[in-house]
This record gives sequence, C-alpha cells and structure tokens, in this order.
Amino acid sequence: HRHFALVPAAGSGSRMGRETPKQYLPLLGEPLLRHTLRVLCQSPLIDRVFVVLSVGDPIWNTADWSALGDKLVPLYVGGASRADSVLNGLRAIRPQVADGDWILVHDAARPCLAPWHIDTLITTLDEDEVGGLLAVPVADTLKRSTRHGRVEATVARDSLWQAQTPQMFRYVMLRRALESAREVTDEASAIEAAGLHPRLVQGDTTNLKVTYPLDLHLAEWILSNREG
Ligand code: CTP
Ligand code: MG
Repeated sequence: HRHFALVPAAGSGSRMGRETPKQYLPLLGEPLLRHTLRVLCQSPLIDRVFVVLSVGDPIWNTADWSALGDKLVPLYVGGASRADSVLNGLRAIRPQVADGDWILVHDAARPCLAPWHIDTLITTLDEDEVGGLLAVPVADTLKRSTRHGRVEATVARDSLWQAQTPQMFRYVMLRRALESAREVTDEASAIEAAGLHPRLVQGDTTNLKVTYPLDLHLAEWILSNREG
C-alpha cells in the first residue's frame, strides 16, 4: 500500500491575529507552509502530497512551488472547518487512491515536522489494523474547573497524551469515519467515534502547532537549531 500526505491549509489563522493566514507567514524567510511541505515531499516513504487550499486561495499561486518536486498536488477544496477541509480533500483524491492506501493527515501549521517523526509513525503503524497518530505525554498538572472557576478535581495525567499530526489511517476507513462523525477536531476522534482505538505513537514537542505569535518564534528557533 502507498502512503499519501493530505495537508489541510485552508484555515484563516484567526488566533494568530494577522491579516495573512499563518500558513503563509514568513518563517526563516520562507512561507511557513513551504517548510511543512518540504519535509513531506522529501520523504522517500511518501508517494504524493496533497495540499488542501481554501477555494480561490489568492496566495498559493504568487509563489513558485516547483522546487518541491512533482509529488505536490494543490486542491482548492477547503471547507468551513478543518474536518470539512480534510473530508473534501479525501473526496477530491478518490480517483488517485486505493481503499487500503494510507493517508497521513498533517496540519499545514506544523512546520517543524522532522523526517524521524514520519519514519517512526509509518514504521510503527504500517501493519496496524486501525492506524494512529503522533502524540506526546502531557507534561503539566491538569485541573478540571467548576463553572465558577474553582478547581473541581486534578486530572491524573499519567494516561493523558497531547495529539499531534500526522495522523495515519487507511483511506476508506478515514473517509467513512469523517463522513459520519461531524464536528471533530482531529481524524483520530472520528475513528474513535466509530468504536476503534487508534495507536498513540510517541513523537516530541518540537512538532508544535503554530497557533499564537509566540509559536512562530519557537518554530523559528527549532528549525534554525536543527539546520545548523
Ligand atoms: N484548516 C483548514 N481548513 C479550515 C480550518 C483549518 O484546512 N477550515 C487547517 C489550518 O490551515 C491548519 C490546520 O487545519 O493548518 C489546523 O488548524 P488551526 O491550527 O486551527 O488553524 P486555523 O483554523 O487557521 O487557525 P485558527 O483556529 O486560529 O483560526
Ligand atoms: Mg482553527
């Protein structure tokens, strides 16, 4: 079976508070999205990289992406939510994939994905019945609050993980799960709603999601210390 990356990049980045959607903000002098796509396109384990853009995305075509090679396929089918963007992307690629091919859904907003993250995920899950996701054990002590902003309880964190991407599932299983599970914030939740148990594959916190302005600085630091 082949491995395809599907990269939702159709968000507006409202929490970043900038006019330009965060996937196009400069990171070490290049659009953030270029870092994300480069590591996926360069992976020998990945056959093609589909990037889901918003309908009529005005920015994509202002840059030259050809240096990333011919694995890259833009799809102008973004939806109102991340889950809609992913599902629209899955529908659009139907003619190009087989039922059992693996789909690695990866946030455009995670530009610090490293080759070892991809390798670990694929090596761990390739024979898996269900699939799974990169994740990291929760580091902080967590509190559940009452409606009045007081601590109701401390949540035992030893079994808690923070979900990341890529999340890797077989095409048909993922598409069916997303078609029946509405309002999910990641692919694994849709698979869980179908009664299955995705495998947690330990990554690390360098694979952060750029959400707030501080994250952009952290990402820049991570990438520049990795590339020397
Ligand atoms: N995404 C998408 N389509 C949407 C919403 C989000 O493709 N309708 C993508 C984003 O581009 C991002 C990823 O999903 O790469 C993760 O979403 P998030 O970090 O929430 O990005 P935004 O929705 O753009 O940011 P915000 O929630 O702050 O508006
Ligand atoms: Mg969002």
